[in-house]
Amino acid sequence: MDPRDCKDELAEILITEEEMQERLAEMAQQISADYAGKNLLLVGVLKGAIMVMADLSRKIAIPVEMDWMAVSSYGSGTKSSGVVRILKDLDTDLAGRHVLIVEDIIDSGLTLSWLVRNLENRGAASVKIAAALRKKEAAKVEVDVEYLGFDIPNDFVVGYGLDYAEKYRTLPCVAKLSPHVYEK
Ligand code: XMP
Ligand code: MG
Repeated sequence: MDPRDCKDELAEILITEEEMQERLAEMAQQISADYAGKNLLLVGVLKGAIMVMADLSRKIAIPVEMDWMAVSSYGSGTKSSGVVRILKDLDTDLAGRHVLIVEDIIDSGLTLSWLVRNLENRGAASVKIAAALRKKEAAKVEVDVEYLGFDIPNDFVVGYGLDYAEKYRTLPCVAKLSPHVYEK
């Protein structure tokens, strides 16, 4: 989807397609070096992480495996509460595995801090995080992000896997949504 085709619905483009791809290439290079000689398992969190997973994984130079989880965070409306339910679990046994969680965005951090603990408890050798975006001001708990794309302001954003009512996931950039879209 071309951002020009929905520009009335977008308030501002925060990260262009080129900026995202360039940053992911740098992250992938670091990951390839850090995990050289190790058997790396990428764990994507559905659905938001699909684009990051597709692009980041293909830029990683070492062989990797890929698995997926879907979780839902109980909470009031759009706020996450930290109480997480697994909707789709991994197919992979994590015992002794080096796991890298691949996420679209870290907001409050509640979902990811729960997920890291959950995966560590399954006996993984290591559990680290790669995230495309982080809203630093929204943090309710500290999460250690080993590989981070961009820090962004505490606004609702769409594109690059992120949706509003299931729309805009296929935008190649990350944009602030115009308030008139969700205030009507
Ligand atoms: P927490 O707060 O637990 O939740 O870190 C992170 C999850 O919340 C979703 N999220 C967003 N989705 N635009 C979106 O489309 C946003 O600006 C946004 N902020 C948080 C997302 O699913 C993420 O995994
Ligand atoms: Mg998500």
